[in-house]
Amino acid sequence: MHDTILNQLDRDGFAVVEGFLRDAECEELVAAGLELTRRLPDTPPTVFSTTQPEHEHLKGKYFMESNDKISYFYEKDALDADGKLQVDPSISLNKVGHALHLLHPIFRCYTYSDRVKALCRALHLAEPAVVQSMYIYKNPGVGGEVVPHQDISYLHTEPISPIGFWIALEDATIQNGCLWMARGSHKSGVHRRMLRSPGDRNKCIYDKPAPVYPESSFTPVPVSKGTCILIHGNVVHRSAANRSAASRPAYTFHVVEKKDNNYSEDNWLQEGENAPFLNIYTTSQML
Ligand code: FE2
Repeated sequence: MHDTILNQLDRDGFAVVEGFLRDAECEELVAAGLELTRRLPDTPPTVFSTTQPEHEHLKGKYFMESNDKISYFYEKDALDADGKLQVDPSISLNKVGHALHLLHPIFRCYTYSDRVKALCRALHLAEPAVVQSMYIYKNPGVGGEVVPHQDISYLHTEPISPIGFWIALEDATIQNGCLWMARGSHKSGVHRRMLRSPGDRNKCIYDKPAPVYPESSFTPVPVSKGTCILIHGNVVHRSAANRSAASRPAYTFHVVEKKDNNYSEDNWLQEGENAPFLNIYTTSQML
């Protein structure tokens, strides 16, 4: 089975691992994701207001400082121009990140599980480390699209590319915004990068404009609840907005090879005292 996973990843740039989590396990993660929305402040932080130009800078700072925190990122349509919440808090978030795997007991438990360790072994990773994690809501009606991108644009490693673990916590369908993959595009290099600005290391810039990918490059990859999709760092992928009545939550985290592999100093995400890149094989599931 594991050879097949590696073959799929090499050939297509992604691999589909069905039945990675049981239904009850998905439900535990969805409950944990919903619980996070109950901790939201009544008034979102002013950083999310779009009326004042200096808030763009604060928004960037909030993002850059989320590497060692459980930080909240709202849907664009959930807030008005003054940053006031327009929808129920339970459906207001786009995602939470980027240190759930370190700080949250339930997400940590699944991230450093024996099943994840076994998949890393199947991928022949010698010293795999989780560098970031996100709970993605993709709520019905408000869940926004994710434009085509390569994950390596944000997390550059070489010569071995990062691998995304993307776990569907409900059935992911064409209607509710499943992943779409440009099969084989992982063999086309790194198309652009988001880098820490040489002038201000607390800001990020892109080295090139976003490439335009023909619509015909993408194939939908609908999967059932509990499926894990392994995503090669160089494969181009996207997901559509969720205009259906069904939510499409996912838990996702990124794994990098630490042995004989360079992690770029220009990546926005850097290892820190409170955000260590822990070896999956030797890290406990317990906080
Ligand atoms: Fe991605």
